Amino acid sequence: MNEIQLEEQFQQKVDAEIKIEPKDWMPDKYRQTLIRQISQHAHSEIVGMLPESNWITRAPNLRRKVALLAKVQDEAGHGLYLYSAAETLQIDRQTLVEQLLDGTAKYSNIFNYPTLTWADIGAIGWLVDGAAIMNQVMLQRTSYGPYSRAMVRICKEESFHQRQGYEIMITLCNGTVEQKEMAQDALTRWWWPSLMMFGPSDKDSVHSSQSMKWKIKRESNDFLRQDFITRTVEQTKHLGITIPDPNLKWNEQKQEYDFGEIDWEEFKNVISGNGPCNAERMKARREAHENGKWVREAAMAYAEKRKQKAV
Ligand code: 3HC
Repeated sequence: MNEIQLEEQFQQKVDAEIKIEPKDWMPDKYRQTLIRQISQHAHSEIVGMLPESNWITRAPNLRRKVALLAKVQDEAGHGLYLYSAAETLQIDRQTLVEQLLDGTAKYSNIFNYPTLTWADIGAIGWLVDGAAIMNQVMLQRTSYGPYSRAMVRICKEESFHQRQGYEIMITLCNGTVEQKEMAQDALTRWWWPSLMMFGPSDKDSVHSSQSMKWKIKRESNDFLRQDFITRTVEQTKHLGITIPDPNLKWNEQKQEYDFGEIDWEEFKNVISGNGPCNAERMKARREAHENGKWVREAAMAYAEKRKQKAV
């Protein structure tokens, strides 16, 4: 079969909801899109550990500390699943990590903001993991088998992350005046960057139309963002704090919320490396990678020795 016939057969499989597996023929652009998306997803999980780890030693009590430790460890595991999923596309992990460290690969905008108070840990679990769940539940139906299966496992853990975050927010909102103010301050700072997590609007998304055709994406950026807003506004009413958007208003006709303009200049700034914490996050990742060099070398030496013994 020639390239055109192969592409036709590939698209028929995707359209018939047959999962694409690593050994299947696939268009190179499909492969490259998956490497880009899955590796950036993995980078996001690993970098995402940094803002929260800042509060492991500052958690208000042992129960909160244990839950936060478990969450941060989960994120590390999510990163490893996703790097393994990306490696099935014939790219090695070292290359992926180098792309993160040299700045050629992205990670989610959201992890470039500071965690200033304990309420930020609640807002991250509630809003950031809440937004991630919207996207990841959709990705359980993605056309690439290893990615779809990784998502099933990750989503189970993500829902615990979201619930523990929301429970922190409920506790603060039912606490002292200062605690409720802290929760409001966190919502005010994390709301808009959380909406940006879903990516640019559909009209500005460079990858969405092809990703939807290949069923890598099953819903658009705007659809998921809107669904997140609808669910989160109801949860916010229960907390008794205010979403920082004066234009947020229920639209009876559309049966969804109208909301204010997202600051896409801020988004572009942050994802091009100029956010509040980009330099700090990358410094921490480069140092961790350097400090872990001896572990990687020891593991490789051990593996090599085992291989020689087996020969
Ligand atoms: N942060 C950083 N870059 C973003 C972004 C974001 N929130 N949203 C979009 N971009 C980038 C894209 O990577 C692309 O740039 P590139 O070509 O250099 O890769 C560009 O903006 C155009 O955006 P598109 O919408 O056209 O790109 P995609 O089709 O890739 O859609 C996406 C963006 C919806 C984020 C998609 O990549 C996706 O679904 N990724 C998987 C989910 C993911 O990565 N989530 C990150 C958070 S993980 C997390 O939160 C962990 C949790 O445990 C807390």
